[in-house]
Amino acid sequence: MCGIIGYCGHRPAVPLVVEGLRRLEYRGYDSAGVSFVQGGRLSVIRAEGKLSGLEKKLESQHVFSATSGMGHTRWATHGPPVEKNAHPHLDHSGRLAIIHNGIIENYQEIKTELAQKGVEFRSDTDSEVLVNLIAHCLKDTGGDVTRAISKALSRVEGAYAIVVMSVDHPGTLWATRVASPLVMGVGTGENFFGSDIPAFLPYTRDVVFLEDGELVRITASSWEVMETASLKPVEKKVNHINWDVQAAEKGGHKHFMLKEIFEQPKVIRDCLLGRISQQGGQVRLPELDELPVPERLHIVACGTSYHAGLWGMYLLEKYAGIPVQVEIASEFRYRDPILPKNGVVLAISQSGETMDTMAGIKLAKGRGLPVIGLCNVVGSSISREADYVVYSQAGPEISVASTKAMCSQLAALLLLTLYWGRRSGRMAEDDCARMLRELQAMPQMLEEALPGLRAKAQRLARHYAEATSFLYLGRGPSYPLALEGALKLKEISYIHAEGYAAGEMKHGPIALIDPHFPTFAIALDDEFFPKVKSNLVEVQARAGEILALTNEGLDLAVEQPWTLPRASGPLAAFVILPAVQLFAYEMADYLGKDVDQPRNLAKSVTVE
Ligand code: M6R
Repeated sequence: MCGIIGYCGHRPAVPLVVEGLRRLEYRGYDSAGVSFVQGGRLSVIRAEGKLSGLEKKLESQHVFSATSGMGHTRWATHGPPVEKNAHPHLDHSGRLAIIHNGIIENYQEIKTELAQKGVEFRSDTDSEVLVNLIAHCLKDTGGDVTRAISKALSRVEGAYAIVVMSVDHPGTLWATRVASPLVMGVGTGENFFGSDIPAFLPYTRDVVFLEDGELVRITASSWEVMETASLKPVEKKVNHINWDVQAAEKGGHKHFMLKEIFEQPKVIRDCLLGRISQQGGQVRLPELDELPVPERLHIVACGTSYHAGLWGMYLLEKYAGIPVQVEIASEFRYRDPILPKNGVVLAISQSGETMDTMAGIKLAKGRGLPVIGLCNVVGSSISREADYVVYSQAGPEISVASTKAMCSQLAALLLLTLYWGRRSGRMAEDDCARMLRELQAMPQMLEEALPGLRAKAQRLARHYAEATSFLYLGRGPSYPLALEGALKLKEISYIHAEGYAAGEMKHGPIALIDPHFPTFAIALDDEFFPKVKSNLVEVQARAGEILALTNEGLDLAVEQPWTLPRASGPLAAFVILPAVQLFAYEMADYLGKDVDQPRNLAKSVTVE
């Protein structure tokens, strides 16, 4: 999830672009860069690390005469976060520059083809391939950039928002998108592109929301939108928005946590990008192809990532036939764990910086076990320490309480299960293809369900606002989600909550049940339902009130049923997860808590 800004107008472009990048920093960054045409030359200036690195470099340059320019903060997806991979990227002739947010799935095949034609690449990125493809198409379009972009994109698969600049047209920028955010700001004598509205909010509140497959050309005084494929003009409405900068960063949501919960459909799509074969029946994880299918797996993680790992255990054992042990990293590192030589360690971490997880990796490596890192942050310490890395592709998570990162970890764990299940022959091709189809359908199902889930969570939060304790219950793969629901509630609302395996409740926690101690149960239409139902009857016999996530048509009489859309088997997790997150969010918000920065917590825990 990168930050993009483009500008054509009458002001000095470079300082404006850098200032816009600063407002986009919440989208994550590991490097930044700008490009502009000055003195007949297309210049690119880039720096690794935070934006201040780029600003420092710019101090020594005379960059104030250009009145068009573009800039980018990178959140790495291809290649490590080093300067050569920072954007903008030039084509090999240096006449075109591109900034890009997204992933080009078929970049490798295009790269090979262009390399055979003599193109030399300087970075590891898919974006550099794309700018060279556009440059290549310019030969067939007689130098017409608009047509060259259209032609190049007809060959491209994947998700992208790009802005293109040409040395031959210094006052013009082009932009287009598919499945990556891009908006246009319409000013007076100036026009803008941004991956998000905050990029240009101090200059204009008039915004054109661009749709997938639309291509835009702007100059200081004009803008035109067309279909990327046919170049037919498209009529667009200019919207006036009233957001302030802070609201704009949150995409109009009150908190980052809420924004991130609502991003989960996109997170699943991004996690699947490039990882499902063209025919749809196979998972592609080339980063693991050289590693034999593990005979045993030790999952090591903390907090929410640990819950994701527990959920993964149910799937990996059932569908891939791999024996799995899930370990809390802070315990694992100080035990003397038995780690058989045929084992593999899977370390799960959103930040990739959690010290306990890192220590677990070192222990495993010291014993000679291969380590796979399942991380969100590219180039993070864990991703560098691990022998193999699978990125979960959730984009930057700002809210301290982890939400969308867990969704991406679940999607990645499901992919890993199918990938190993097929490779070991344990899973039938048809079953794998069916689960993949269901996973691919999940984003749309969630998009439709999320507003209703939120409305229900809001009503329930008002109902339970006085509660001081909750018991969360689940069985099978829903048990880790009960743990996660309890963790989310504790973290942000400061209400005590315990997650328990539903069948274990009778061995102790049942003593707590009374009319003032509500139970939050996960009782969906699956093989565990009859057992969960009897556990809930035990709660009701002690006058405990029950809020239950359930499905239409189930024979379950509880005080607060919360009906979820049906999803088959383990896929139900993708619906349960936002429900427990939204309940915690609405409780915390209703109680006036600091949702995004709860007391005593840090986003990445780099201490013991
Ligand atoms: O970055 P990591 O996934 O390694 O972080 C692990 C935990 O610190 C993290 O999940 C923590 O529990 C969050 N506060 C959960 O919302």
